[in-house]
Amino acid sequence: MKKVLFVCLGNICRSPMAESIMKKLIAENGMEKEIEADSAGLISYHEGEEADSRMRMHARRHGYDITHISRPICEEDFYIFDYIIAMDDHNYDKLIDMAPGLDEEKKVARMTDYRKNTVMDHVPDPYYGGHEGFENVIRILEDTCAGLFEKITRSHE
Ligand code: 4NP
Repeated sequence: MKKVLFVCLGNICRSPMAESIMKKLIAENGMEKEIEADSAGLISYHEGEEADSRMRMHARRHGYDITHISRPICEEDFYIFDYIIAMDDHNYDKLIDMAPGLDEEKKVARMTDYRKNTVMDHVPDPYYGGHEGFENVIRILEDTCAGLFEKITRSHE
């Protein structure tokens, strides 16, 4: 079993979206026993809240149902998960700082490390922007989650 944790700042937009996209890929490929996906935030400000209503609306339009409840990342996550995936450089730097050891630090990667067709090198924070920002998040995450899914399934064979 490989476990993936997607991480963004608030855990109400980008990382729960990534979690839903990955869960759909896992289900479509019948890999529920091989891969698990979860998400967490770097801040606890939105702890206990559903994902942002704008993110959920855009997700629904693309056939995704986000059910995740926001939670902050904790030290135990660095031991439980095999892949800890940051949405942008700020998230990445914070995760590297938080990692309890070198082995755990090695688990941290950027979402866009797994890009296939997107030219973006980070997943931009859509929180303070308009609708196009949320569509952009879904576009980038569909591409990069597909790349990550392929990487995990290849290394699992
Ligand atoms: P996320 O977006 O990191 O993609 O969940 C944000 C959500 C909340 C805030 C910032 C970004 N905030 O400042 O509360």
